[in-house]
Amino acid sequence: MSSLAWGTESNMSDEKFYNREKEVVLLKRILNTLEENSSPTVMLSGIRGIGKTSLLKKIKNELEKDYLISYIDLTRIDTYQTGKLTKVDLVNEFYNTWMEASSNKKLKTTISKIKKYFQTKNFKIKELISTEGYPIPVIETEDNYKKLSDFVLELPQKIYEQEKNKIKGVIMIIDEFQALKDLGDGLDNFLWLFRSVIQNQNNVAYIFSGSINSRDNIIEKIAGRKGAFGGRMLTIEIEPFTKNTVYKYLKEKLPSLIFEDDGFERFYSCTRGIPHYVNTFAQLLEKNTPLTDKKIKKEFQNLLPFLALHLINLWSGLTLREQKIVTSLSEGSLERRKIAKKLNISSSSLSTPLQKLLNEGLIEYESKGVYTISEPILKEWLKQEYLNKGIYPYRSLT
Ligand SMILES: Nc1ncnc2c1ncn2[C@@H]1O[C@H](COP(=O)(O)OP(=O)(O)OP(=O)(O)O)[C@@H](O)[C@H]1O
Ligand SMILES: [Mg+2]
Repeated sequence: MSSLAWGTESNMSDEKFYNREKEVVLLKRILNTLEENSSPTVMLSGIRGIGKTSLLKKIKNELEKDYLISYIDLTRIDTYQTGKLTKVDLVNEFYNTWMEASSNKKLKTTISKIKKYFQTKNFKIKELISTEGYPIPVIETEDNYKKLSDFVLELPQKIYEQEKNKIKGVIMIIDEFQALKDLGDGLDNFLWLFRSVIQNQNNVAYIFSGSINSRDNIIEKIAGRKGAFGGRMLTIEIEPFTKNTVYKYLKEKLPSLIFEDDGFERFYSCTRGIPHYVNTFAQLLEKNTPLTDKKIKKEFQNLLPFLALHLINLWSGLTLREQKIVTSLSEGSLERRKIAKKLNISSSSLSTPLQKLLNEGLIEYESKGVYTISEPILKEWLKQEYLNKGIYPYRSLT
């Protein structure tokens, strides 16, 4: 049996998790400063499929014994999936993850104190208290929201103070934080509220992560000099595996792959060392047969729909106009004006769809006013579809 992770796994066993020793050591060292009453804030960035979530889950597994850790994937929140994330959903989700983490750690005092808090503040509690035994408040008014958001943001430090004989500190991991963009104009407000609360926390570490390029303005808003966490945020960018790492990795984990030299070169340039593509492509390649440059090239074309699966999912959720913007960029980057011309629409009607595509990380600025497709695999797949079928896979046609 192979010990290579599937391209969709993120909670890997130690046997499957490879490389990243430096990042693991660094992150642990940063988080261990919690014991000295410092509260670090970390931004872990890197492109899609590079291994951010996997790294975070590894850290979580390794530190869980000593710390109370909550992990949130913002894109998993129901309302994000069905439409738009609101501040109320966010606060609810924060609350729920703290409660889950506390009940997993059996922090009974904390849970019963929280029950009392809601009683004294006259919060309405959902009929059915969850199976874990913690109360779930219902937010009905703006005043409710205000109270609950202050309470929830302050909660981790409070839990620490109550439970410090059991835990060395508290860690909050917020993954896919680019979903916060859904808050629109409310984003700044939320970030500053967040900042003002956590400034007074001495035993809570925050880690933000998301697939976002470093030029995105949400990074600026959070980690930039004038951003909500400006100056005090430690940024760590995760890089692709190097050629040498991929070589050793596959030799160790999947020795039945037999690369010719030029075949391996091609494999690396197709996957660019991005673990998601490395794993998916490697799993699907023919085993125990010499892999030449030519063979890898052909297999890459054949397997593109599998490699691009998560991108095809995103693609099929786009509107026709959004899709047409993407295909207008398939031959190379373009200015906004030129995109408008290609689509035969006014430049101003591009604002919303362009923003959506930027938010999804499907396109990015190459330079000011010039857009480009940010996922080479998506670009390849679109080109191949066009080549095979004479037409792009637009939604109106599928
Ligand atoms: N350290 C690792 N060792 C082995 N495989 C890895 C490692 N990190 C990531 N992978 C592989 O890459 C895949 C993608 O990793 P992961 O989901 O962590 O990336 P991500 O950066 O969080 O991506 P996204 O931005 O899409 O959320 C994993 O499912 C796994 O197959
Ligand atoms: Mg991830």
